[in-house]
Amino acid sequence: HHLHNNTKEVLSMKKIGVVFGTRPEVIKLFPLIKIMKEEDIELKIIFTGQHREMAEDLFPIFQISPDYSLNIMKERQTLSDITERILERLDKILIKEKFDIVVVQGDTTTTFVSSLVSFYHKIPVAHVEAGLRTHNRYFPFPEEMNRTLVGKLATLHFAPTETAKENLLREGVDKKNIFVTGNTIVDAVMEILKIDKPLPFKIPEDRKLIVVTAHRRESWDEGLKNIALSIKEIALKFPEEVYFVFPLHKNPVVREKIVPIISNLSNVKIVEPLNYVDFIHLLKRSFLILSDSGGIQEEIPTLGKPMLLLRNETERPEAIESGFVFLVGTKRERIVDEAIRIIKDGWKPKVKNNPFGDGKASERILKIIKEYLYGNI
Ligand code: UD1
Ligand code: UDP
Repeated sequence: HHLHNNTKEVLSMKKIGVVFGTRPEVIKLFPLIKIMKEEDIELKIIFTGQHREMAEDLFPIFQISPDYSLNIMKERQTLSDITERILERLDKILIKEKFDIVVVQGDTTTTFVSSLVSFYHKIPVAHVEAGLRTHNRYFPFPEEMNRTLVGKLATLHFAPTETAKENLLREGVDKKNIFVTGNTIVDAVMEILKIDKPLPFKIPEDRKLIVVTAHRRESWDEGLKNIALSIKEIALKFPEEVYFVFPLHKNPVVREKIVPIISNLSNVKIVEPLNYVDFIHLLKRSFLILSDSGGIQEEIPTLGKPMLLLRNETERPEAIESGFVFLVGTKRERIVDEAIRIIKDGWKPKVKNNPFGDGKASERILKIIKEYLYGNI
Protein backbone atom coordinates (compact mmCIF):
# COMPACT_ATOMS: atom_id res chain seq x y z
CA HIS A 1 0.00 0.00 0.00
CA HIS A 2 2.80 2.34 0.97
CA LEU A 3 4.64 1.66 -2.29
CA HIS A 4 1.55 2.30 -4.36
CA ASN A 5 1.04 5.73 -2.81
CA ASN A 6 4.66 6.51 -3.37
CA THR A 7 4.64 5.71 -7.07
CA LYS A 8 1.47 7.71 -7.52
CA GLU A 9 3.21 10.67 -5.99
CA VAL A 10 6.19 10.31 -8.31
CA LEU A 11 3.91 10.05 -11.32
CA SER A 12 1.80 13.00 -10.33
CA MET A 13 4.90 15.15 -10.49
CA LYS A 14 5.47 14.14 -14.10
CA LYS A 15 4.20 16.32 -16.86
CA ILE A 16 3.21 15.15 -20.33
CA GLY A 17 2.74 17.37 -23.37
CA VAL A 18 0.72 16.10 -26.31
CA VAL A 19 1.18 18.07 -29.54
CA PHE A 20 -0.91 17.79 -32.71
CA GLY A 21 -1.97 19.96 -35.62
CA THR A 22 -3.96 18.20 -38.34
CA ARG A 23 -7.11 16.12 -38.69
CA PRO A 24 -5.44 12.67 -38.74
CA GLU A 25 -3.32 13.48 -35.69
CA VAL A 26 -6.39 14.48 -33.68
CA ILE A 27 -8.20 11.31 -34.73
CA LYS A 28 -5.30 9.01 -33.91
CA LEU A 29 -4.43 10.69 -30.59
CA PHE A 30 -7.91 11.09 -29.15
CA PRO A 31 -8.15 7.51 -27.77
CA LEU A 32 -4.79 8.00 -26.01
CA ILE A 33 -5.71 11.45 -24.66
CA LYS A 34 -8.98 10.03 -23.40
CA ILE A 35 -7.29 7.43 -21.20
CA MET A 36 -4.47 9.79 -20.19
CA LYS A 37 -7.05 12.13 -18.70
CA GLU A 38 -8.13 9.35 -16.34
CA GLU A 39 -4.58 9.07 -14.97
CA ASP A 40 -2.94 10.90 -12.14
CA ILE A 41 -0.58 12.83 -14.41
CA GLU A 42 -0.28 16.43 -15.43
CA LEU A 43 -1.36 16.61 -19.04
CA LYS A 44 -1.14 19.62 -21.33
CA ILE A 45 -2.58 19.61 -24.83
CA ILE A 46 -0.97 21.77 -27.48
CA PHE A 47 -2.73 22.33 -30.79
CA THR A 48 -0.50 23.95 -33.42
CA GLY A 49 -3.47 24.78 -35.62
CA GLN A 50 -1.79 23.56 -38.81
CA HIS A 51 -5.36 22.68 -39.78
CA ARG A 52 -8.02 25.02 -38.47
CA GLU A 53 -11.59 23.88 -39.20
CA MET A 54 -10.76 20.26 -40.04
CA ALA A 55 -9.16 19.74 -36.62
CA GLU A 56 -11.19 22.10 -34.43
CA ASP A 57 -14.50 20.63 -35.60
CA LEU A 58 -13.43 17.37 -33.95
CA PHE A 59 -12.69 18.76 -30.50
CA PRO A 60 -16.26 18.74 -29.15
CA ILE A 61 -16.84 15.21 -30.43
CA PHE A 62 -13.70 13.93 -28.73
CA GLN A 63 -14.05 16.21 -25.70
CA ILE A 64 -10.64 17.75 -26.25
CA SER A 65 -9.91 21.30 -25.17
CA PRO A 66 -6.34 22.36 -25.89
CA ASP A 67 -4.36 24.21 -23.22
CA TYR A 68 -2.54 26.01 -26.02
CA SER A 69 -3.67 26.82 -29.58
CA LEU A 70 -0.85 28.22 -31.69
CA ASN A 71 -3.12 29.27 -34.55
CA ILE A 72 -0.42 28.96 -37.23
CA MET A 73 -2.55 28.17 -40.30
CA LYS A 74 -2.42 30.45 -43.33
CA GLU A 75 -4.27 29.97 -46.59
CA ARG A 76 -2.03 28.11 -49.06
CA GLN A 77 0.71 27.73 -46.48
CA THR A 78 4.10 26.50 -47.63
CA LEU A 79 6.08 23.87 -45.78
CA SER A 80 8.47 26.56 -44.61
CA ASP A 81 5.56 28.70 -43.32
CA ILE A 82 4.36 25.83 -41.16
CA THR A 83 7.87 24.98 -39.95
CA GLU A 84 8.86 28.49 -39.06
CA ARG A 85 5.64 29.38 -37.24
CA ILE A 86 5.51 26.21 -35.12
CA LEU A 87 9.20 26.44 -34.27
CA GLU A 88 8.86 29.94 -32.94
CA ARG A 89 5.61 29.48 -31.03
CA LEU A 90 6.18 26.03 -29.56
CA ASP A 91 9.63 26.98 -28.31
CA LYS A 92 8.16 29.45 -25.81
CA ILE A 93 5.72 26.88 -24.47
CA LEU A 94 8.36 24.22 -24.00
CA ILE A 95 10.57 26.65 -22.08
CA LYS A 96 7.67 27.46 -19.80
CA GLU A 97 6.14 24.03 -19.27
CA LYS A 98 9.23 21.84 -18.74
CA PHE A 99 7.60 18.61 -19.86
CA ASP A 100 9.05 15.22 -18.89
CA ILE A 101 7.96 13.83 -22.24
CA VAL A 102 6.28 15.12 -25.40
CA VAL A 103 3.94 12.85 -27.37
CA VAL A 104 3.57 13.30 -31.15
CA GLN A 105 1.82 11.24 -33.84
CA GLY A 106 2.52 10.35 -37.43
CA ASP A 107 4.38 12.27 -40.12
CA THR A 108 3.03 15.77 -40.60
CA THR A 109 5.12 18.91 -40.40
CA THR A 110 3.60 19.52 -36.96
CA THR A 111 4.95 16.11 -35.90
CA PHE A 112 8.44 16.78 -37.21
CA VAL A 113 8.83 20.34 -35.95
CA SER A 114 7.43 19.49 -32.49
CA SER A 115 9.93 16.67 -32.21
CA LEU A 116 12.76 18.97 -33.27
CA VAL A 117 11.88 21.72 -30.77
CA SER A 118 11.51 19.10 -28.02
CA PHE A 119 14.96 17.82 -28.88
CA TYR A 120 16.38 21.35 -28.62
CA HIS A 121 15.08 21.40 -25.04
CA LYS A 122 16.32 17.86 -24.35
CA ILE A 123 12.78 16.65 -23.77
CA PRO A 124 12.28 12.99 -24.75
CA VAL A 125 9.77 12.43 -27.55
CA ALA A 126 7.30 9.54 -27.74
CA HIS A 127 6.38 8.87 -31.37
CA VAL A 128 3.01 7.25 -32.00
CA GLU A 129 2.83 5.45 -35.38
CA ALA A 130 6.57 5.14 -35.81
CA GLY A 131 8.46 3.30 -38.54
CA LEU A 132 6.23 3.69 -41.60
CA ARG A 133 8.37 3.94 -44.73
CA THR A 134 8.09 3.87 -48.51
CA HIS A 135 11.89 4.33 -48.76
CA ASN A 136 11.32 7.05 -51.36
CA ARG A 137 12.03 10.50 -49.96
CA TYR A 138 9.64 12.29 -52.34
CA PHE A 139 6.65 9.91 -51.94
CA PRO A 140 4.69 10.86 -49.99
CA PHE A 141 6.08 14.37 -49.80
CA PRO A 142 7.05 15.63 -47.27
CA GLU A 143 5.76 12.88 -44.97
CA GLU A 144 8.46 10.27 -45.74
CA MET A 145 11.18 12.70 -44.65
CA ASN A 146 9.17 13.97 -41.68
CA ARG A 147 8.73 10.52 -40.18
CA THR A 148 12.30 9.46 -40.94
CA LEU A 149 13.62 12.52 -39.09
CA VAL A 150 11.23 11.93 -36.17
CA GLY A 151 12.66 8.40 -36.07
CA LYS A 152 16.04 9.94 -35.29
CA LEU A 153 14.72 12.53 -32.82
CA ALA A 154 12.36 10.35 -30.76
CA THR A 155 13.19 8.29 -27.69
CA LEU A 156 10.16 5.97 -27.56
CA HIS A 157 8.93 4.50 -30.85
CA PHE A 158 5.42 3.05 -30.98
CA ALA A 159 5.37 0.94 -34.14
CA PRO A 160 1.90 -0.10 -35.28
CA THR A 161 3.11 -3.32 -36.95
CA GLU A 162 6.11 -5.70 -37.10
CA THR A 163 7.04 -4.29 -40.52
CA ALA A 164 7.28 -0.80 -39.04
CA LYS A 165 9.48 -2.15 -36.25
CA GLU A 166 11.81 -3.77 -38.80
CA ASN A 167 12.14 -0.46 -40.67
CA LEU A 168 13.27 1.25 -37.47
CA LEU A 169 15.73 -1.53 -36.60
CA ARG A 170 17.27 -1.21 -40.06
CA GLU A 171 17.81 2.50 -39.42
CA GLY A 172 19.68 1.71 -36.21
CA VAL A 173 17.00 2.49 -33.61
CA ASP A 174 17.74 0.58 -30.38
CA LYS A 175 15.33 -2.33 -30.13
CA LYS A 176 14.66 -1.73 -26.44
CA ASN A 177 12.99 1.55 -27.43
CA ILE A 178 10.65 0.09 -30.08
CA PHE A 179 7.23 -1.24 -29.08
CA VAL A 180 4.75 -2.89 -31.43
CA THR A 181 1.40 -1.66 -30.19
CA GLY A 182 -1.03 -1.72 -33.12
CA ASN A 183 -2.36 1.52 -34.60
CA THR A 184 -4.48 3.78 -32.40
CA ILE A 185 -6.82 4.40 -35.34
CA VAL A 186 -8.35 0.98 -34.72
CA ASP A 187 -9.13 2.14 -31.17
CA ALA A 188 -10.70 5.27 -32.68
CA VAL A 189 -12.88 3.44 -35.22
CA MET A 190 -14.12 0.95 -32.61
CA GLU A 191 -15.06 3.79 -30.29
CA ILE A 192 -16.96 5.62 -33.04
CA LEU A 193 -18.83 2.52 -34.19
CA LYS A 194 -20.47 2.40 -30.75
CA ILE A 195 -22.27 5.64 -31.63
CA ASP A 196 -25.56 5.21 -33.44
CA LYS A 197 -26.12 8.24 -35.67
CA PRO A 198 -27.87 8.59 -39.04
CA LEU A 199 -25.94 10.15 -41.94
CA PRO A 200 -26.43 13.90 -42.44
CA PHE A 201 -27.76 13.35 -45.99
CA LYS A 202 -29.65 10.66 -47.89
CA ILE A 203 -27.94 8.16 -50.16
CA PRO A 204 -30.18 6.35 -52.70
CA GLU A 205 -30.67 2.93 -51.14
CA ASP A 206 -30.30 0.82 -54.27
CA ARG A 207 -26.95 2.36 -55.30
CA LYS A 208 -23.40 1.20 -54.81
CA LEU A 209 -21.83 3.99 -52.74
CA ILE A 210 -18.30 5.02 -53.65
CA VAL A 211 -16.61 7.37 -51.18
CA VAL A 212 -13.72 9.47 -52.48
CA THR A 213 -11.08 11.61 -50.75
CA ALA A 214 -7.84 13.10 -52.10
CA HIS A 215 -5.35 15.70 -50.97
CA ARG A 216 -1.68 14.59 -51.30
CA ARG A 217 0.87 17.27 -52.18
CA GLU A 218 2.59 15.05 -54.76
CA SER A 219 -0.73 14.82 -56.66
CA TRP A 220 -1.27 18.58 -56.96
CA ASP A 221 0.32 18.76 -60.45
CA GLU A 222 -1.34 15.89 -62.35
CA GLY A 223 -2.84 13.33 -59.99
CA LEU A 224 -5.84 15.26 -58.71
CA LYS A 225 -7.03 16.09 -62.21
CA ASN A 226 -6.76 12.45 -63.25
CA ILE A 227 -8.65 11.34 -60.15
CA ALA A 228 -11.47 13.77 -60.97
CA LEU A 229 -11.58 12.60 -64.61
CA SER A 230 -11.76 8.97 -63.42
CA ILE A 231 -14.73 9.74 -61.20
CA LYS A 232 -16.47 11.46 -64.08
CA GLU A 233 -15.91 8.50 -66.37
CA ILE A 234 -17.18 5.94 -63.85
CA ALA A 235 -20.14 8.13 -62.88
CA LEU A 236 -21.21 8.48 -66.53
CA LYS A 237 -20.76 4.78 -67.20
CA PHE A 238 -22.95 3.68 -64.25
CA PRO A 239 -25.60 6.44 -63.83
CA GLU A 240 -28.20 4.11 -62.27
CA GLU A 241 -25.94 1.82 -60.32
CA VAL A 242 -23.28 3.95 -58.66
CA TYR A 243 -23.45 6.98 -56.37
CA PHE A 244 -20.36 8.97 -55.38
CA VAL A 245 -19.84 11.03 -52.23
CA PHE A 246 -16.71 13.19 -52.18
CA PRO A 247 -16.01 15.09 -48.93
CA LEU A 248 -13.56 17.71 -50.13
CA HIS A 249 -10.41 18.62 -48.25
CA LYS A 250 -10.40 22.32 -47.25
CA ASN A 251 -7.24 23.03 -49.23
CA PRO A 252 -8.11 25.49 -52.06
CA VAL A 253 -5.42 23.94 -54.30
CA VAL A 254 -7.26 20.62 -54.09
CA ARG A 255 -10.68 22.19 -54.70
CA GLU A 256 -9.56 24.11 -57.78
CA LYS A 257 -8.38 20.94 -59.48
CA ILE A 258 -11.33 18.74 -58.65
CA VAL A 259 -14.56 20.74 -58.47
CA PRO A 260 -14.75 22.01 -62.08
CA ILE A 261 -14.51 18.46 -63.44
CA ILE A 262 -17.11 16.72 -61.26
CA SER A 263 -19.52 19.43 -60.12
CA ASN A 264 -22.28 18.83 -62.67
CA LEU A 265 -22.80 15.09 -62.38
CA SER A 266 -26.15 13.91 -60.98
CA ASN A 267 -24.65 10.89 -59.19
CA VAL A 268 -21.70 12.68 -57.64
CA LYS A 269 -22.29 14.51 -54.36
CA ILE A 270 -19.59 16.93 -53.23
CA VAL A 271 -19.68 17.83 -49.54
CA GLU A 272 -17.60 19.71 -46.99
CA PRO A 273 -15.29 17.59 -44.81
CA LEU A 274 -17.45 15.41 -42.61
CA ASN A 275 -16.99 15.13 -38.89
CA TYR A 276 -15.43 11.84 -37.86
CA VAL A 277 -18.63 10.18 -36.65
CA ASP A 278 -20.41 10.92 -39.93
CA PHE A 279 -17.43 9.94 -42.02
CA ILE A 280 -16.97 6.53 -40.35
CA HIS A 281 -20.68 5.85 -40.77
CA LEU A 282 -20.41 6.85 -44.43
CA LEU A 283 -17.53 4.39 -44.93
CA LYS A 284 -19.60 1.72 -43.20
CA ARG A 285 -22.40 2.27 -45.72
CA SER A 286 -19.99 2.28 -48.69
CA PHE A 287 -19.35 -0.33 -51.37
CA LEU A 288 -15.90 0.92 -52.38
CA ILE A 289 -13.49 3.68 -51.38
CA LEU A 290 -11.20 5.66 -53.69
CA SER A 291 -8.61 7.61 -51.73
CA ASP A 292 -5.00 8.69 -51.27
CA SER A 293 -5.44 8.92 -47.49
CA GLY A 294 -3.07 7.25 -45.07
CA GLY A 295 -5.58 6.90 -42.27
CA ILE A 296 -8.44 5.48 -44.33
CA GLN A 297 -6.25 2.53 -45.37
CA GLU A 298 -5.96 1.65 -41.71
CA GLU A 299 -9.66 2.09 -40.99
CA ILE A 300 -11.14 -0.14 -43.68
CA PRO A 301 -10.06 -3.54 -42.31
CA THR A 302 -12.15 -2.77 -39.20
CA LEU A 303 -15.05 -1.82 -41.49
CA GLY A 304 -14.52 -4.66 -43.98
CA LYS A 305 -14.39 -2.48 -47.12
CA PRO A 306 -12.15 -2.42 -50.21
CA MET A 307 -10.16 0.62 -51.35
CA LEU A 308 -8.33 1.75 -54.44
CA LEU A 309 -5.26 3.62 -53.23
CA LEU A 310 -4.69 6.62 -55.51
CA ARG A 311 -0.91 6.75 -55.10
CA ASN A 312 2.20 5.16 -56.53
CA GLU A 313 3.77 3.98 -53.29
CA THR A 314 2.56 2.90 -49.89
CA GLU A 315 4.07 2.78 -46.42
CA ARG A 316 1.30 0.43 -45.37
CA PRO A 317 2.05 -2.83 -47.22
CA GLU A 318 -0.05 -4.71 -44.65
CA ALA A 319 -3.20 -3.22 -46.15
CA ILE A 320 -2.30 -4.60 -49.57
CA GLU A 321 -1.13 -8.01 -48.35
CA SER A 322 -4.40 -8.53 -46.46
CA GLY A 323 -6.38 -7.77 -49.62
CA PHE A 324 -8.20 -4.62 -48.49
CA VAL A 325 -6.20 -2.13 -50.54
CA PHE A 326 -5.25 -2.08 -54.23
CA LEU A 327 -2.42 0.25 -55.20
CA VAL A 328 -3.61 1.77 -58.50
CA GLY A 329 -1.61 4.98 -58.94
CA THR A 330 -3.08 8.22 -60.30
CA LYS A 331 -3.52 7.44 -64.01
CA ARG A 332 -7.06 7.50 -65.28
CA GLU A 333 -7.19 4.23 -67.20
CA ARG A 334 -5.98 2.09 -64.34
CA ILE A 335 -8.26 3.72 -61.77
CA VAL A 336 -11.31 3.27 -64.00
CA ASP A 337 -10.46 -0.37 -64.89
CA GLU A 338 -9.95 -1.41 -61.28
CA ALA A 339 -13.12 0.34 -60.13
CA ILE A 340 -15.19 -1.33 -62.87
CA ARG A 341 -13.74 -4.70 -61.90
CA ILE A 342 -14.93 -4.31 -58.31
CA ILE A 343 -18.29 -2.78 -59.30
CA LYS A 344 -18.95 -5.77 -61.57
CA ASP A 345 -17.33 -8.68 -59.72
CA GLY A 346 -17.54 -7.59 -56.09
CA TRP A 347 -14.74 -8.15 -53.60
CA LYS A 348 -13.63 -10.30 -50.66
CA PRO A 349 -10.72 -9.72 -48.23
CA LYS A 350 -7.93 -12.31 -48.05
CA VAL A 351 -7.86 -12.41 -44.26
CA LYS A 352 -10.25 -12.02 -41.36
CA ASN A 353 -7.88 -10.48 -38.86
CA ASN A 354 -7.04 -6.80 -38.75
CA PRO A 355 -3.40 -6.09 -39.69
CA PHE A 356 -3.44 -2.76 -37.83
CA GLY A 357 -4.40 -3.87 -34.37
CA ASP A 358 -7.07 -4.91 -31.90
CA GLY A 359 -8.26 -1.58 -30.53
CA LYS A 360 -5.95 -1.64 -27.51
CA ALA A 361 -2.97 0.29 -28.91
CA SER A 362 -3.58 3.34 -26.72
CA GLU A 363 -3.63 1.25 -23.52
CA ARG A 364 -0.29 -0.30 -24.44
CA ILE A 365 1.23 3.07 -25.30
CA LEU A 366 0.11 4.67 -22.06
CA LYS A 367 1.47 1.76 -20.02
CA ILE A 368 4.90 2.07 -21.65
CA ILE A 369 4.98 5.86 -21.23
CA LYS A 370 4.19 5.39 -17.54
CA GLU A 371 6.93 2.80 -17.14
CA TYR A 372 9.34 5.17 -18.87
CA LEU A 373 8.42 8.04 -16.56
CA TYR A 374 8.80 5.79 -13.49
CA GLY A 375 12.28 4.91 -14.66
CA ASN A 376 11.80 1.26 -15.57
CA ILE A 377 12.88 1.66 -19.20
C1 UD1 B 1 -1.49 18.01 -44.09
C2 UD1 B 1 -0.20 17.20 -43.86
C3 UD1 B 1 -0.35 15.82 -44.45
C4 UD1 B 1 -1.62 15.14 -43.97
C5 UD1 B 1 -2.83 16.03 -44.21
C6 UD1 B 1 -4.08 15.43 -43.63
C7 UD1 B 1 1.96 18.37 -43.87
C8 UD1 B 1 2.97 19.07 -44.67
N1 UD1 B 1 0.90 17.88 -44.52
O1 UD1 B 1 -1.61 18.21 -45.50
O2 UD1 B 1 0.77 15.04 -44.09
O3 UD1 B 1 -1.78 13.92 -44.66
O4 UD1 B 1 -2.59 17.31 -43.58
O5 UD1 B 1 -5.22 16.06 -44.13
O6 UD1 B 1 2.09 18.28 -42.66
N2 UD1 B 1 -6.94 24.31 -44.89
C9 UD1 B 1 -8.02 25.03 -44.40
N3 UD1 B 1 -8.67 24.57 -43.29
C10 UD1 B 1 -8.31 23.44 -42.63
C11 UD1 B 1 -7.21 22.71 -43.14
C12 UD1 B 1 -6.55 23.16 -44.27
O7 UD1 B 1 -8.38 26.05 -44.95
O8 UD1 B 1 -8.95 23.08 -41.64
C13 UD1 B 1 -6.23 24.79 -46.13
C14 UD1 B 1 -5.34 26.01 -45.89
O9 UD1 B 1 -5.43 26.87 -46.99
C15 UD1 B 1 -3.94 25.36 -45.84
C16 UD1 B 1 -4.10 24.23 -46.82
O10 UD1 B 1 -5.42 23.75 -46.64
O11 UD1 B 1 -2.93 26.29 -46.18
C17 UD1 B 1 -3.10 23.11 -46.71
O12 UD1 B 1 -2.96 22.61 -45.39
P1 UD1 B 1 -1.62 21.84 -44.97
O13 UD1 B 1 -1.73 21.38 -43.57
O14 UD1 B 1 -0.43 22.65 -45.31
O15 UD1 B 1 -1.57 20.62 -45.97
P2 UD1 B 1 -2.50 19.35 -46.13
O16 UD1 B 1 -2.58 19.03 -47.56
O17 UD1 B 1 -3.75 19.56 -45.36
N1 UDP C 1 -11.90 11.90 -42.45
C1 UDP C 1 -12.95 12.58 -41.82
N2 UDP C 1 -13.81 13.31 -42.60
C2 UDP C 1 -13.68 13.41 -43.94
C3 UDP C 1 -12.62 12.74 -44.56
C4 UDP C 1 -11.73 12.00 -43.79
O1 UDP C 1 -13.09 12.50 -40.60
O2 UDP C 1 -14.49 14.10 -44.56
C5 UDP C 1 -10.96 11.12 -41.62
C6 UDP C 1 -10.68 9.72 -42.06
O3 UDP C 1 -11.59 8.82 -41.51
C7 UDP C 1 -9.26 9.48 -41.57
C8 UDP C 1 -8.64 10.84 -41.62
O4 UDP C 1 -9.70 11.78 -41.70
O5 UDP C 1 -9.23 9.05 -40.23
C9 UDP C 1 -7.74 10.94 -42.81
O6 UDP C 1 -7.37 12.24 -43.01
P1 UDP C 1 -6.60 12.69 -44.32
O7 UDP C 1 -6.97 11.84 -45.47
O8 UDP C 1 -6.84 14.14 -44.41
O9 UDP C 1 -5.08 12.49 -43.90
P2 UDP C 1 -4.07 11.26 -44.03
O10 UDP C 1 -4.65 10.10 -43.32
O11 UDP C 1 -3.85 11.02 -45.47
O12 UDP C 1 -2.85 11.79 -43.36
